[in-house]
Amino acid sequence: MEAAEYRVKGKEMVDYIADYLENIRERRVFPDVKPGYLRELLPDAAPHEGEEFDKIFADIERVIMPGVTHWQSPHMHAYFPALNSYPSLLGDMLADGINCLGFTWASSPACTELESLVMDWLGQAIGLPAEFLHKTQGSLGGGVIQTTASESTFVCLLAGRTEAIKRFQTMFPDIEDAEINSRLVGYCSDQAHSSVEKAGLIGLVKLRYIESDENLSMRGDKLKEAIKTDRENGLVPFFLCATLGTTGACAFDNLQELGPICQEEQMWLHVDAAYAGSAFVCPEFRKWMKGIEFADSIAFNPSKWLMVHFDCTAMWVKNSRSLHRTFNVEPLYLQHENTGLAIDYMHWQIPLSKRFRALKLWFVLRNYGISGLQKMIRENVRLAQKFEALVRSDNRFEIPAARHMGLIVFRLRGECAMTEKLLKKLNSSGKMHAVPCCIKGQYVIRFTITSQRTTAQDLTRDWAIIRSTATDVLEEYGIVSTNRKRVPLKEIKEKNASFGTSLLLANIGGNSPISPKIVDGSFAALFETDDVVVDFSKKLKNMQKDIHSNSTRTQANRRVRGMMMSGKQYSLDSRIDLVEAVQASQDEEDQENVARTQEKENNGGPPSAGRGRSLSVVENSEVVGEVGLALRKARAAQMAIPEGEAEDENGVSITTLLQPSQTATIVQMMKQLDLNLSSGRSSDQEIREAFIEFYKLFDDFGIIDKTRYENINNWYEPEHRMKT
Ligand SMILES: Cc1ncc(COP(=O)(O)O)c(C=O)c1O
Repeated sequence: MEAAEYRVKGKEMVDYIADYLENIRERRVFPDVKPGYLRELLPDAAPHEGEEFDKIFADIERVIMPGVTHWQSPHMHAYFPALNSYPSLLGDMLADGINCLGFTWASSPACTELESLVMDWLGQAIGLPAEFLHKTQGSLGGGVIQTTASESTFVCLLAGRTEAIKRFQTMFPDIEDAEINSRLVGYCSDQAHSSVEKAGLIGLVKLRYIESDENLSMRGDKLKEAIKTDRENGLVPFFLCATLGTTGACAFDNLQELGPICQEEQMWLHVDAAYAGSAFVCPEFRKWMKGIEFADSIAFNPSKWLMVHFDCTAMWVKNSRSLHRTFNVEPLYLQHENTGLAIDYMHWQIPLSKRFRALKLWFVLRNYGISGLQKMIRENVRLAQKFEALVRSDNRFEIPAARHMGLIVFRLRGECAMTEKLLKKLNSSGKMHAVPCCIKGQYVIRFTITSQRTTAQDLTRDWAIIRSTATDVLEEYGIVSTNRKRVPLKEIKEKNASFGTSLLLANIGGNSPISPKIVDGSFAALFETDDVVVDFSKKLKNMQKDIHSNSTRTQANRRVRGMMMSGKQYSLDSRIDLVEAVQASQDEEDQENVARTQEKENNGGPPSAGRGRSLSVVENSEVVGEVGLALRKARAAQMAIPEGEAEDENGVSITTLLQPSQTATIVQMMKQLDLNLSSGRSSDQEIREAFIEFYKLFDDFGIIDKTRYENINNWYEPEHRMKT
């Protein structure tokens, strides 16, 4: 390929990548291929004659993409993130073009100098003590970009080993390195990443696991005990790897307790913050770093969560001499006239050569700025909080460890095999991808927000899939869930002929034998996002107007007025009366609207799915009194009743079981809303707020099928809320 063709193909490739990333949501996140799939698609020897690039290019979609797990997909929730970004990709494009090897300063000064500069920038951005920075006067510290967190742990373990052997030999000069090595013992938590074990294996040192506490955190007392026992057995404690953000549940070891012990015992303290380290660009997350001043080294992966694509692990040490002592080999051909005056990164790492990785980090830091990075991290964490709330709203699930940052761990209550089955079904569906882990003997699903493209809607969609898959799994295990069970009205009526829709208040008192309560939980969404609040408040305003006016439907109105004045709690039937009182006036308008919509569709317009009429949203109708109306409207617009929900003979009702406490909360809120409405003083804003509160409440209780509420979800996010 010549430059002219490269210019053309290069631009095509950039377009292809941009298209790939923009449309990634549409791809199946987890591939549906079997081992060996690729061999069947390609010849088993390289072509003798060169091929046209177009032919090669065409094989990307034919051969490669079917076997790709799409890590940039918003539905990727496995492992930890491996974000990329356009400035990062551009940085590497340039680095690949330059393709210098930066082992010594002289092998490419810009490579070394930019790396030490951006490592200072990044170190300051996450609030590292000055001793870790190159620029600090008199400091032997500084940062280096390693390939992976695993490699960093290994490098630091080796540096710690060098220091321990040196120290031991000053006391006992006759003892061989190998003998000292055989007595060395390192420590990490039982939650530490397997790379720590691997470092111990290749470093030929013993590694002791410290049992984490109930918060999955390694604590000082347990470490002290282990050190004491090991010393009594003639071992030499030399290294501790503490984790900030463990792989299993993103737990944090207690540096404030561990640090002073390491100092006292002269042990090298390495901090592995592979994932969580990126979040320290936000000051509010730095509480987990307390005690970092005791560390000898720290590493984290901007290649995980800081939008600098793989590979890029940022590692800092306080004393780079320990690295030099560990890796110092200096053949003549690598010496240069500035040897000793400038950094030669070959002494800071295992390989000799190094790529110009600093470029992509530099591009990202400049293009996003610290505030851009903070924004992305905060949004990720906010989404994780949201997902946590969804999980908590369904009592079939439990969250066995606190959520930190963007990682939630959850499981189905009961046998581990059920959660395992659930995860397998989810993964094989290809609709999302997550991996398991074991937390204190329990099988859990790790669910990480892994993409800066993830939105609340993506999570809502994923959660809906998880929930319905869980229902299938539980059914397979013969378990009928009590949460959100929908009971067809018809079935209830067979058991209780007098059942209407007024059971809501039947057993509010704690002594009721009927538990959980059966309430009408109908909901249907027919809306245009922008109109929803306005319409809802109009609707409530109309209700008030009708209640206070001399309508022709005097009987109903009198009853309604009576109810409003009585100050009593209302049954669902009464609420339906409320609706009846206003319905007639609205029915006319409805019909007109439906006719209009129909006409639009007949004229080739898109199917409206019932959208666009003045009553655009219908919420849990017993609360706003719109049950019949909601479903009649749905019917009128020929909207299918969602699968899994039941309707009564007239097609007007759906039932849901709620817990007593949930019902009580709803009633409490209803009372408040009634009070505000009947006083006639509620402003539009207050009505909107009330609606939002109801919506959030139903969301918390998991009685809203949010896949049908995407726009409302959007709308009720805090920022939308401010707009209303
Ligand atoms: C806490 C922790 N440490 C180390 C690693 C290994 O990272 P790397 O692939 O960069 O070696 C991981 C991977 O997710 C991790 O979570």
